[in-house]
Amino acid sequence: MNKIAIFASGTGSNAEKIIQYFNSHSSVAVDLVVSNRKNAGVLKMAEANGVDTLIIERSSFYGSTNILNTFKERDISYLILAGFLWLIPEKLIERFPKKIINIHPALLPAYGGKGMYGMNVHKAVFNAKEKESGISIHFVNAHYDEGELIFQAKCPIHSSDTPATIAAKVLQLEHQHFAEVIERVIADQ
Ligand code: GRF
Repeated sequence: MNKIAIFASGTGSNAEKIIQYFNSHSSVAVDLVVSNRKNAGVLKMAEANGVDTLIIERSSFYGSTNILNTFKERDISYLILAGFLWLIPEKLIERFPKKIINIHPALLPAYGGKGMYGMNVHKAVFNAKEKESGISIHFVNAHYDEGELIFQAKCPIHSSDTPATIAAKVLQLEHQHFAEVIERVIADQ
């Protein structure tokens, strides 16, 4: 069984789709939801779905091997970032080569990097009068949003669109594709 830990800092709508998709899956299981915010919606959602949760804080996440020990004890082999706002430390990237996957709500390499998350992304795309946006799913390296691309999907932007309507279209693409892309990456390794 390939066991996954999902990292999220917010609502966790992507995490919920992934949990539902792999519920009673033959070879992939969501084992843990990790968050850096103790009152994040994703934690309540995970508990409601019977998935264990772990709250992390900066000093241990970056300064100790606790998280590595937890993943080893739980036999977790893939890390999925679904709206996680902290940079992943080198020790995790070394331990999980090509096994840490992130989703970004824009067509990388454009509109990525530090500070480019959530509505910041959609406002920048809107202000630039882009004709399309979309999602990027990529392997994670030591820099925000710069790892090898795995998958992208696009949505058109019309003159009537606003940052909020762009966000809604992009989120719908995320919900449509993320779990299946994770499944394919695992199946191909
Ligand atoms: C999504 O927009 C995703 O692209 C970004 O963080 C957001 C997560 O949303 N990485 P949710 O918490 O899954 O609803």
